[in-house]
Amino acid sequence: MQLENRVAIITGAARGIGEAIAKVFAQSGSLVVVSDLEIDECRQVVKAIEDAGGKGLAIRCDVRSRQEIENMVRQAVDTFGKLDILVNNAGILGRRPLLKLSEEDWDLTLGVNLKGQFLCAQAAAREMVPNKWGRIINIGSISMGGCGMAYPHIAHYTASKAGVIGLTSALALELTPHGVNVTAICPGVIDTAMAAEAKAPEQIDRVLARVPAGRFGQPEEVARVAAFLASEEASYISGNAIIVDGGWLVT
Ligand SMILES: NC(=O)c1ccc[n+]([C@@H]2O[C@H](COP(=O)([O-])OP(=O)(O)OC[C@H]3O[C@@H](n4cnc5c(N)ncnc54)[C@H](O)[C@@H]3O)[C@@H](O)[C@H]2O)c1
Repeated sequence: MQLENRVAIITGAARGIGEAIAKVFAQSGSLVVVSDLEIDECRQVVKAIEDAGGKGLAIRCDVRSRQEIENMVRQAVDTFGKLDILVNNAGILGRRPLLKLSEEDWDLTLGVNLKGQFLCAQAAAREMVPNKWGRIINIGSISMGGCGMAYPHIAHYTASKAGVIGLTSALALELTPHGVNVTAICPGVIDTAMAAEAKAPEQIDRVLARVPAGRFGQPEEVARVAAFLASEEASYISGNAIIVDGGWLVT
């Protein structure tokens, strides 16, 4: 039970990668706050966690709202006594060619994917620093530019995920001296609703041809990496990103 008695908040945990992280953390002994815009789905995830013998708490939280984030952190601490782990997972994609990309699309994507991570990290760090222990794990993407992999029509998403890498290293510099390690995970194509949105059926074989593993990743394969990074075993890892892409970036 590598996360026994740890308290974790997972954003965007109603489905997909966030749901898998919440469940794997609960199996590893963590008390889990399952948060998302979709509260009914969060409650279903918590029910599954409790049916399996774990403990969870569903909280509706829009990561664009500082007030909702502060309420979420307060509720987590009131319920479970502390906050040890934050997984900044909430994210949106929304493919748009550049010439059709509106300022609203840009602001929404950067607001959820990047500013949301900053706001959640700041609120969480206020709890973690006095306790001299914490883990902040930011979910990035191999669609972050500068790594030899490019996907069309996602300039806004790519910029947000590049920002996640910068944010991760900057936060690590400030927080690691206080016992709070900050890392990122950059998934390749993982089999979720977001991936389905990203690729038309006729593109699937073309994408798969570039993945040496020969298949898309499963959300649990990202979740197990998050559990490792959140654990004591990862005590000397901070400031870096782990790529979980079935080998795509080496092609
Ligand atoms: N699936 C992939 O192939 C893939 C690849 C690389 C990175 N990622 C990243 O992994 C993370 C999870 O993606 P997923 O594939 O599980 O996607 P998903 O669409 O299945 O789940 C994303 C969740 O985030 C929630 N969300 C959206 N806006 C929110 C907001 N403002 N506040 C709170 N919650 C919000 C959604 O309601 C949803 O439950 C994202 O950050 C995504 O960018 C996914």
